[in-house]
Amino acid sequence: MTVKVCIFDAYGTLFDVAAAAREAAAEPDFSQLAKLWPRIAEDWRLKQLQYTWLRAVADRHCDFWQVTEDGLDWALERAGLEDAALRARLLTLYKELSAYPEVGAMLEALKGAGLKTGILSNGSPDMLQNAVASAGIGGQLDAVLSVEDVGVFKPHDRVYDMVGARFGCAPREVLFVSSNGWDAAGAAGYGFRTVWVNRAGDPVDRLYAAPDDIMTDLRGIPDLAQRL
Ligand code: LAC
Repeated sequence: MTVKVCIFDAYGTLFDVAAAAREAAAEPDFSQLAKLWPRIAEDWRLKQLQYTWLRAVADRHCDFWQVTEDGLDWALERAGLEDAALRARLLTLYKELSAYPEVGAMLEALKGAGLKTGILSNGSPDMLQNAVASAGIGGQLDAVLSVEDVGVFKPHDRVYDMVGARFGCAPREVLFVSSNGWDAAGAAGYGFRTVWVNRAGDPVDRLYAAPDDIMTDLRGIPDLAQRL
């Protein structure tokens, strides 16, 4: 078994980023979201990520909570829904996003196989702590690594360097799993073995590297990690 460490992206990979808008839309106080929530969730995520990339190239880092708020404000304004109570509710729900249903058993299987596990995320340490605690997966993770320790967002190499620094392993001993095509590409370019979790059936990103494997959810990760 070459792979010794299995590292996961957080938002979109372990935690369902659309859950905040979807769950708010089901609450009686926020019925204005009933039809609009998918577009708001998509705009929110896209702007949040664009702001990370733009801040990284401009060398104007801020933490992930700031770009999460900024992305939401853009998405709500575009939808004509600038409402303080709605904004506050969506941000509260974002702090406790649901994990995808297969996450607990998948991490359990990796630990049972003797692999180390961790998160490597743009998320700030307190965001990640809240998400891990509300999903109840802290006991199955050896490390929760935040880009705040290096002050730049993915896909900068300084972020991927954090895995070797924490676990003392070479890039090819790492299986890196992300639902973000650009993150899987960045990690592949860095030298990790990578899986892109493509739940939506999207095209492969045209970037400088491509993922080694593509899966539709996380269930196959323990088998793959033990075969490598
Ligand atoms: C993360 C973002 C990219 O968790 O989803 O790093």
